[in-house]
Amino acid sequence: MTTEHIIHRTPIFSDDWWSALENFAEPKLFKDSFNPADFMFNDENFLDFLRCRASVDQHQLPEHDNFLRVFVDGGFRYKEKAEILKHPPENGEKLKHYCDRIFDGKEYMILANSVEQFLPNLHKKLIALNIYDRVLPKLQLKTEQSLHINCTIFMGNYSMTPLGIHRDDDFLRGGIHFHLGPGPKVMHLWPTEVYIKNTGSAFRSFELSHRLLATPEHKCFTLEAGDSFYLPQNIYASGPYHVGCPQGFSMAMTLGFFYENAQETLQHALLNLVSDRPEFDQLKNEAMCLYLEMLREHQGFSSVM
Ligand SMILES: [Fe+2]
Repeated sequence: MTTEHIIHRTPIFSDDWWSALENFAEPKLFKDSFNPADFMFNDENFLDFLRCRASVDQHQLPEHDNFLRVFVDGGFRYKEKAEILKHPPENGEKLKHYCDRIFDGKEYMILANSVEQFLPNLHKKLIALNIYDRVLPKLQLKTEQSLHINCTIFMGNYSMTPLGIHRDDDFLRGGIHFHLGPGPKVMHLWPTEVYIKNTGSAFRSFELSHRLLATPEHKCFTLEAGDSFYLPQNIYASGPYHVGCPQGFSMAMTLGFFYENAQETLQHALLNLVSDRPEFDQLKNEAMCLYLEMLREHQGFSSVM
């Protein structure tokens, strides 16, 4: 394990914790930095999220949205997602029991984005922590860029994140993981050029090869229940290639920092408007034509359109 980025005896959201993150440029692992039993998100909250998610009008937030993704045996699955939306956890049912029932012994991961939008109490707690004001000054955004923070949950009994070894989207500018356990998770990181040189391409991969693990630039961090970990996006050209490998059942909450400029905001608004509504195919075509037209007129994009 890399040791120069490991910090002890520093509770999450304390002044020392924020200070240790400095300019969000380096990976940082804070050992034993919170008590999962007292954390703002727990099994019950996730069960509430699934029940709430299942109760949402499917025309408002249909099955194929990205707020909730379900993977089984490493693959993206609609069948089990539909099962969760149709038969959410019963009142009083424990999370592990529910997942065992739905996934029937298979290897699975549930990835839920923007859970705070479905859980008002979590949203209130996040606002009370003043995270936005702590993060914004350190990210050195340009004036036309705006910062968005959201909450993502990774949970399951998977042995490798089904996303494979990957780089995050360009609009993600770092994220803090709060590992709730009970099982540990090993996070592996590689600089972009090292990953490409050793795999032969920039594509994501699903094999932790000996060659990759043996590179001197490879960093790995073991997250245990109560550890927090910052995964930066700007220490290497476009963020490190990374993958999480849990051992046994575990859950983690992440706070993701996103930024975008006005043009990207418009792009996401348009895509959100049209991508969830199959009945809006015509509008989707028109919106994309309009958007492409704007891109053509936008200096800097004309050469690629
Ligand atoms: Fe990622």
